[in-house]
Amino acid sequence: MRLSKRMEKLPPYLFVGISRTIAEKRARGEEVISFGIGDPDIPTPQHIVEAEIAASRVPANHRYPETDGLPRLREAIARWYKGRFGVTLDPNKEVVPLIGAKEGIGHMAFCFLDPGDVALVPDPGYPVYSIGTMFAGADTHWLPLAEANGWLPDLDAIPPDVVKKAKLLWLNYPNNPTAALAPAGYYQRAIDFARRNDIAIMHDAC
Ligand SMILES: Cc1ncc(COP(=O)(O)O)c(C=O)c1O
Repeated sequence: MRLSKRMEKLPPYLFVGISRTIAEKRARGEEVISFGIGDPDIPTPQHIVEAEIAASRVPANHRYPETDGLPRLREAIARWYKGRFGVTLDPNKEVVPLIGAKEGIGHMAFCFLDPGDVALVPDPGYPVYSIGTMFAGADTHWLPLAEANGWLPDLDAIPPDVVKKAKLLWLNYPNNPTAALAPAGYYQRAIDFARRNDIAIMHDAC
């Protein structure tokens, strides 16, 4: 049986390729320092492990959560966001717990993009921005990250016909993989650009 066209278009996942190369080298006895996936190499702090064990013993936690996520969790996230970033969020309308950033990034494409639309995606960048775009049937326009621009996308260099079709702009600072930071002024310029052109900024502050 043939898989869907979108599955046939799916490129190999970069990190799987890197893991395979590392495994092959290690099997040959070579010493490898991995710059692949950012897997934590320090243990989860003990108090968090203990809290998880205690929570797993509470029968109420064996049930499905409400579809929006537990109100207490959403309220705690909004409180944390206020303390950390000084930003006020409505826990009922502006906070959604997910199983990871990847799930949100992948599904965001389906919320905003139709075939013929464009997502503006930094290059290099997290692969899911463009894979989600492809799954939604839309096109990726790559924004090169270059040292000359402080590793920030040059929004003025995007051709006007691409801007017209663009619905999403992906930003990720502190950036993975360049580790660059974006100055606050850059965000103001990005917000002005997005407002002018009716584009949603997806800030992946992972
Ligand atoms: C830039 C970036 N965004 C998102 C993610 C995914 O995060 P999560 O593990 O929460 O799905 C990663 C994971 O490496 C990442 O590097």
